[in-house]
Amino acid sequence: MKIEKAEKTGFCFGVRRAMEIIEKAAREHGGIETLGQLVHNRQVLQKLADIGVKVVEAAEDIQGDTVAISAHGISPELEAELQKQHIGLVDTTCPYVHRAQQVARRLNEAGFFVVVYGEADHPEVKGILGWTKGKGVATLSENPVASLDPLPRWIGVLSQTTRIPAHYTEFIKTLIDAAFTKDSEIRIFDTICHDIRDRQEAALKSARTVDLMFVVGGRNSANTNHLARLCSEITETRLIETAEEIKPEWLKGHQRIGVTGGASTDEQTINEVIAKLEALT
Ligand code: F3S
Repeated sequence: MKIEKAEKTGFCFGVRRAMEIIEKAAREHGGIETLGQLVHNRQVLQKLADIGVKVVEAAEDIQGDTVAISAHGISPELEAELQKQHIGLVDTTCPYVHRAQQVARRLNEAGFFVVVYGEADHPEVKGILGWTKGKGVATLSENPVASLDPLPRWIGVLSQTTRIPAHYTEFIKTLIDAAFTKDSEIRIFDTICHDIRDRQEAALKSARTVDLMFVVGGRNSANTNHLARLCSEITETRLIETAEEIKPEWLKGHQRIGVTGGASTDEQTINEVIAKLEALT
């Protein structure tokens, strides 16, 4: 049995950067709170908890005078609320997310209704939508936009950073079809992060050469789920969080196994999965 690791695994640039910032802040402050999970990965959160990083779910739960913002970013309203409470910010917002936020802000200032292609309840999407000052919508289907009556004259479209590029393209096509005869002007922005593109391409390349694929990452991680979905369209795929989950019977009848991981899965967890697979073969 042959086991191969996809060409791109380990933390993405944004998560690596957020981890460095938070580790430094935890050292300097003797521990720190983060507003929401820094990353959607339980193993990484446990490591952070070990150095004094505590997750709080809402602004009113913050105990200290400083809080860290996750790589997913926050809305301007939430930022203003924290400032009002005199809470200092350690900002780990990923630069790619920041770029999407600024696209939303500029579109709003130019009078565009903003459509964010993404999961409405995802922290990153909520943050981006906050920059539209209530003149936008987050959706994965064109319906909520097409059914607006009247359809806004100017529509700006951008994507959650971790979506699958081909699906975003499909979404844009259906949106154009819905708006084509209604005199609307549509501006489209590519805000999908480069790391996600490269990671998805590397995972697909690997999936094409194996008969079983393991995608390692948090079950609540959007980009990990997208990777698993893409790979499952090509070959048998299992999403796992750790090596301990692997069952020997899963490997029966398989000759080539591929391993990839989400953007918030550290290299060590990937290597543990590979070591376990090697031990089982
Ligand atoms: Fe940033 Fe892309 Fe990672 S948006 S946090 S570099 S997945």
